[in-house]
Amino acid sequence: MSNSYSVAILGATGAVGREILELLESRNFPVSDLKLLASERSAGQTLPFRGENLPVEAVKSEAIFKNVDLVLASAGSSTSKTWAPIAVEKGAVVIDNSSAFRMHPEVPLVVPEVNGEAVANHKGIIANPNCTTILMTVAVWPLHQAQPVKRIVAATYQSASGAGAKAMAELKAQAREILEGKQPTSQVFPYPLAFNLFPHNSPLNDWGYCEEEMKMVNETRKIFDNQQIRITATCVRVPVLRAHSEAINLEFENPLSPEEAKEILQKAPGIKLVEDWQKNYFPMPVEATGKDEVLVGRIRQDISHPCGLELWLCGDQIRKGAALNAVQIAELLVEKGLLKKLAVGTKVN
Ligand SMILES: NC(=O)c1ccc[n+]([C@@H]2O[C@H](COP(=O)([O-])OP(=O)(O)OC[C@H]3O[C@@H](n4cnc5c(N)ncnc54)[C@H](OP(=O)(O)O)[C@@H]3O)[C@@H](O)[C@H]2O)c1
Repeated sequence: MSNSYSVAILGATGAVGREILELLESRNFPVSDLKLLASERSAGQTLPFRGENLPVEAVKSEAIFKNVDLVLASAGSSTSKTWAPIAVEKGAVVIDNSSAFRMHPEVPLVVPEVNGEAVANHKGIIANPNCTTILMTVAVWPLHQAQPVKRIVAATYQSASGAGAKAMAELKAQAREILEGKQPTSQVFPYPLAFNLFPHNSPLNDWGYCEEEMKMVNETRKIFDNQQIRITATCVRVPVLRAHSEAINLEFENPLSPEEAKEILQKAPGIKLVEDWQKNYFPMPVEATGKDEVLVGRIRQDISHPCGLELWLCGDQIRKGAALNAVQIAELLVEKGLLKKLAVGTKVN
């Protein structure tokens, strides 16, 4: 990494943005200059980077992206739709954490452990997949390479922080309110989450699937470049602060034994096998918190199907499910020499 780059974090004050900031520093990403961008609400705040307190600026005009090489965006879909094409026009490459461009046919949707080579096709924007999808694909892909997966049935247990920094604060406040004998107040979530759970609150389609569930279906197919694979999911929000969990049932074309699966996953990138059957000890969200790896365990034969396998995983969705995946994509671009300035005026259609 001989060059260094002018980087902007759009959404720097958010749960994902702050993690990106930490990762750029801890992974020693070659940053020559860093802009921290958010809304008017947090303009004037400062955030620490490499021993300095950098100011947060409100993103208001196109000029802010002048001479920026890389934008790491995590400020929601509408903000990305507004600013990502402008940043690209100004010559930057944008790695976007929102859902704005994920299913765009010309935008690569990348999990480095699965389809890192797809970055080569970028035309200015690269999309970071949905967090539950990233965690699932990291674990399923190596098994799928050994024995093709025909069908995935997933159930998720998603933490409050998946809905951002304010949702995490709301869960803590609700727990306090309940313990003090008060009614819990909900502003971010539609219902109280403390001491409760509810199906994921994203919009429902005509078949009764919520948006989060359909992201797992459609994005996995795009990342695997496989429209045939059958996927269904039930997504649930649980009162965990950070790190999502997933129960995954896989149906393979031919049997894959739990022993073979464990051997494969032990060597797979981005995975840590966590199992102690004597102690009934398996991945837990508190232990996945702050970790780069997706923790996988409880791998067992599905007793209802000869080609079926059950597994359980936990992963820090702010880290590998968002910020780390984005920074890994940026590192790939640097490694492959693909983080060159785009021609100013490049259009995203
Ligand atoms: N949390 C997760 O686990 C996770 C995982 C994968 C993907 N994502 C995606 O990442 C994005 C950010 O999520 P988050 O959890 O970090 O949310 P968050 O904690 O609510 O942070 C949102 C960030 O966006 C900024 N922002 C909001 N509106 C803006 C605007 N109009 N102009 C400029 N900046 C604006 C906020 O700035 P202010 O401080 O000024 O409000 C804040 O920095 C979302 O698209 C989300 O879907 C999140």
